[in-house]
Amino acid sequence: MVTSVRPVRDFANDATFPRLMRLDRKPIAILCAAVFALTAADAGTVGFNRDVRPILSEKCYHCHGPDAKQRKADLRLDVPEVAMKSGAIVPGHPEKSEMIGRILTTDSDDHMPPAKAKMSPLSATEIETLKKWIAEGAEYEPHWAFIPLKPAAAP
Ligand code: HEC
Repeated sequence: MVTSVRPVRDFANDATFPRLMRLDRKPIAILCAAVFALTAADAGTVGFNRDVRPILSEKCYHCHGPDAKQRKADLRLDVPEVAMKSGAIVPGHPEKSEMIGRILTTDSDDHMPPAKAKMSPLSATEIETLKKWIAEGAEYEPHWAFIPLKPAAAP
């Protein structure tokens, strides 16, 4: 807090003081914290469910996902242990992750998704999202439907 040499005014009850400044500070502090949290989430880290899962579902899970009959190269990108053991994902190192290499390569034999699948390649933004997610540690999140709701705060 700012220390003042002048006698402290009782802002809360001083009618001459602008109304906004007389408000109880606590709700304002809470509001500021909430706004800060929202902005931080937007500008900051990549979320698996929000940002990554939609890309993998659309472009990769068809051949590297839950469906064993469709699965190619025994690679599952939806199971972190499998994705990491195979080297497709090296947490913290997008440049060492084969998944990124396969998306970026210009060799049409290796490129993912494969040309014959006739899927559109990933956009630059999608590639950046995947790289950032891996750089941040490649944290998976359970599907939102399985995340237990937080208990409501006591009144
Ligand atoms: C239409 C099916 C299909 C889709 C979609 C697909 N892949 Fe593949 N993927 C394959 C096949 C087939 C192979 C094995 C042949 C090869 O190595 O090129 C493979 C191999 C790989 C490998 C090497 C696995 C290993 O251990 O050798 C990686 C990594 C990979 N894919 C990542 C991806 C990523 C990331 C996506 C999404 C952007 C994706 N794939 C989408 C079919 C697919």
